[in-house]
Amino acid sequence: MWFLLLLGVAGATEIPPHEDVARVARFVAHSCDWGALATLSAQDPPVRGQPFANVFSVSDGPPRSRGSGVPYMYLTALEVSVRDLQMDANASLTMSLAQTSYCKKQGYDPQSPLCAHVIFSGIVEKVQNGTEADFAKKALFSRHPEMATWPPDHNWFFAKLNITNIWVLDYFGGIKTVTPQEYFNAAP
Ligand SMILES: *[C@@H]1O[C@H](CO)[C@@H](O)[C@H](O)[C@H]1NC(C)=O
Ligand SMILES: *[C@@H]1O[C@H](CO)[C@@H](O)[C@H](O)[C@H]1NC(C)=O
Ligand SMILES: *[C@@H]1O[C@H](CO)[C@@H](O)[C@H](O)[C@H]1NC(C)=O
Repeated sequence: MWFLLLLGVAGATEIPPHEDVARVARFVAHSCDWGALATLSAQDPPVRGQPFANVFSVSDGPPRSRGSGVPYMYLTALEVSVRDLQMDANASLTMSLAQTSYCKKQGYDPQSPLCAHVIFSGIVEKVQNGTEADFAKKALFSRHPEMATWPPDHNWFFAKLNITNIWVLDYFGGIKTVTPQEYFNAAP
């Protein structure tokens, strides 16, 4: 009994069954500390307007918590991809269990659908609301303690991907889609 209670508090540590696609997506989003974010480049030609992928530290909540499912980020306008977002805030974020020990342990290649990965698209938005900013800070600084020491003159701010579309690869048979509603309602 106490064990079950503990598990409930600590959050899931095992990947949900592959047919529970929305739960798998939440599990991947919560398990990963970073993701690759693709923006539409605002740099000089010839790259302007082209996709541009870059690494960002993310967190949907403190580690081993239930997680919110919302990928929060800590950004500065000095960052090259953030300049892209100022021109066009549409972005795609991908996260994979290849970023954890899971796929290596199972012997799954990162490109294998068994090495579960998720692709989000949506709009990167500044977190304006104080309650949500407090949560974003707790979510990010607990996983990325170094953030607390990043240079204050860079004017860091909290942001999130407001998810509009979700794709999941967690098994054979092709990519699956999950609606944001299914995703946020799922117990990870
Ligand atoms: C997202 O892309 C659409 C289509 O190009 C564009 O109309 C819209 O302004 C973009 N949204 C933001 C917030 O940049
Ligand atoms: C602020 O954000 C929190 C968490 O997302 C939400 O529960 C709350 O309703 C929001 N408050 C306002 C005033 O938007
Ligand atoms: C995403 O944006 C919509 C429209 O502005 C808003 O209603 C919704 O609460 C946002 N979702 C999240 C997770 O911030």
